[in-house]
Amino acid sequence: MIIAHTIEALEEAKKTLSGSIGFVPTMGALHQGHLSLIQQARKENDHLIVSIFVNPTQFLEGEDLDAYPRKDEADIKICELSSVDILFMPTVNTMYEEDELCIGAPAVRGYVLEGEKRPGHFDGMLQIVMKLLNLSAANNAYFGKKDAQQLALITQMVKNYFMDVHIIPCEIVRDDKGLALSSRNTYLTAEEKERALCLSRSLKRATKLVMAGELDVKKIKQEMLEVLQEADSVEYVSIVNREFKALDSVEIGNTIILVAAWVGKPRLIDNLWI
Ligand code: PAF
Repeated sequence: MIIAHTIEALEEAKKTLSGSIGFVPTMGALHQGHLSLIQQARKENDHLIVSIFVNPTQFLEGEDLDAYPRKDEADIKICELSSVDILFMPTVNTMYEEDELCIGAPAVRGYVLEGEKRPGHFDGMLQIVMKLLNLSAANNAYFGKKDAQQLALITQMVKNYFMDVHIIPCEIVRDDKGLALSSRNTYLTAEEKERALCLSRSLKRATKLVMAGELDVKKIKQEMLEVLQEADSVEYVSIVNREFKALDSVEIGNTIILVAAWVGKPRLIDNLWI
């Protein structure tokens, strides 16, 4: 495995590749969720590039940029064991200059839900993903469905900017109790980890209701909010179509149910595609 810290080193390393390139961008602190993206990308491509970069422009003032878990040594081992060809680990100065040209999240879809609660987050996220996709020159790039809105916006960016890369959505990975894996789960105490299960439980309740024929969004949300009482506070429960437009009635095959809530220190998100 080649570890590249600069653009020049990355370009040099890419010269050793021939055939299709799969790419998994991450912010490190790799867990089983990342591993499933890495394994899928490994299977479906001749070569595999992974990036680890904690992108400052997608953190808002007062968020956990400085505290964000960093586990470079363990991450490098994981990538080595997963047969990654190139691990790209740039510095902030490598990725950004002052007074940059910026791309922005779309005015509607980029400013609801996560975009409303974290204004500016998606601008920074799209900025770095555009750079990383261009640098990797990947044929296929892998993103988890857990960050459903991020995935939708990246897919839209690739479409709107006619970028030559396939965005591959990957399933959410959960622990054995149902908690969606996230690097921020490391902030949870044992007691909070138990309470955090209310997010996935609320989605299970929604599934049961839909399976029983209940499609009314208001009723489903009400029941989910009951389950979510164990969280310290709920930021949103939302039921939207795959384009992130609010629905009154669940459309089977075109609906995402999303939840965001605080449990202890971290703000957690989870969702269900139906
Ligand atoms: O999902 C993430 O880890 C990040 O948002 C990403 C896509 C690596 C961009 O920094």
